Amino acid sequence: MKSSAEFKERYTAKTPTSRSMSERAHRSLPAGVVANVKYFAPYPLFMQRAGGSHLWDVDGNEYVDYCLAFGPLILGHGHPAIVRAVADSFATMGTTIFGTPNELEVRYAEKLLSMLPIAGKMRLTNSGTEATYLALQLGRAATGKSAVARFEGHYHGWYYEGVLSNSPSAADYGAAEAPASVAGSKGTPASILAETLVLPFNDLDACRTLLVANRDRVGTVIVEPSPRAFYVTDPAFLTGLRSLTRELGMILIFDEVMSGFRCGPQGATGIFGVEPDLLSLGKIIGGGFPVGAVVGRSDLLDLASPTASGGHVFHSGTFNGAVQVLAAGLATLNILSDASLIQPFYENTEAFKGEIRRLMASHHVRGHVAGLGANFGIIMSETPVCNYRDVGREDGALREAFDYACLAEGIYIHPHKPFYTSLAHTSGDYESTLGKLDHIFAEIG
Ligand SMILES: Cc1ncc(COP(=O)(O)O)c(C=O)c1O
Repeated sequence: MKSSAEFKERYTAKTPTSRSMSERAHRSLPAGVVANVKYFAPYPLFMQRAGGSHLWDVDGNEYVDYCLAFGPLILGHGHPAIVRAVADSFATMGTTIFGTPNELEVRYAEKLLSMLPIAGKMRLTNSGTEATYLALQLGRAATGKSAVARFEGHYHGWYYEGVLSNSPSAADYGAAEAPASVAGSKGTPASILAETLVLPFNDLDACRTLLVANRDRVGTVIVEPSPRAFYVTDPAFLTGLRSLTRELGMILIFDEVMSGFRCGPQGATGIFGVEPDLLSLGKIIGGGFPVGAVVGRSDLLDLASPTASGGHVFHSGTFNGAVQVLAAGLATLNILSDASLIQPFYENTEAFKGEIRRLMASHHVRGHVAGLGANFGIIMSETPVCNYRDVGREDGALREAFDYACLAEGIYIHPHKPFYTSLAHTSGDYESTLGKLDHIFAEIG
């Protein structure tokens, strides 16, 4: 197997302008980026242009895009329906934001609610981060309990509870005492750590022990039902977690900011047939514009109403429901509700995943493809990832070699992140990518 250093050299040899732009960007932006997720070493690519399923960088290299801005672009870049919807919204409504209620907001809410396997009401936010934050606040308000439980390694946004990731040791999960949670971000207040219980995914017995022991202070549980595109969810675990939280009077939030409309037309909630109390969404539902939403039980959403008797959960946002966000989001939802378009898309993605599996096996690559629907991971470990601790079993050097080989070959993925596909990916894209992967797996296998 060639070393990952060799693939990195190929990457840097093709991308000198990205390197110099990154050096310039470092002078005004920490690490040269506006969000940490965009950084990777030695420097990320600077893109200049996009169209459909393709990207072009500042050195003129062309890529098939399997990152799609970390998920939102399920129609690809610059889909004509989105461009038209945005232009029409300016032409007919004349603004980016009214700052008053308007009919588009109601139409959008009616459409989104009609597509989800969960009844109730919804509120809009400007990001998935804000959506999970609001959902947790609603849970706290409904239960009167300030502590929340979350799962190790799951991501819910960049605020303090959102990035908490670990508990000190696996052995802690056997204990009835809550393991202390560990901050994933500097600057996390100790009070937040003390108010956050970290649970192990796919381990119902441990969840029962910890939640029962902490039922006096924990009122809300948040989980990614299909986490990070590569954990395998045990359906019995989700069903059990639903029963357990009901039994303990806790609010259960499914965070489907990533998996919503990517796992399948009704997200993981539809696939597993388990109904949470609240659902957080984002990414896809804004058609490529900044968005988030909390959907769920009307009695919980109504806690955010300023007319609620006995006080309310304060929720606001100058840009919530901005016109072009909703116009683009609605255009996306209309396409996603057309089964004749969406079914072939999921089928083509499954066929693509199947071919990747076949190539990995034929080149004896020690890894596997995991993840539901149009968001999947190529994991360099032969055993499935069932929880955060399993992630550590991946062969990091092999994965690094794969990542940089892909970038050097014109397959755009963000290192260590999953693959995303879109309706804009053609059979030609898949074929050319498989040809390149054949070559890459032969080199790294
Ligand atoms: C499951 C999940 N929740 C929340 C978020 C945060 O969303 P945003 O980046 O829009 O704030 C993300 C982002 O990747 C996510 O994957």
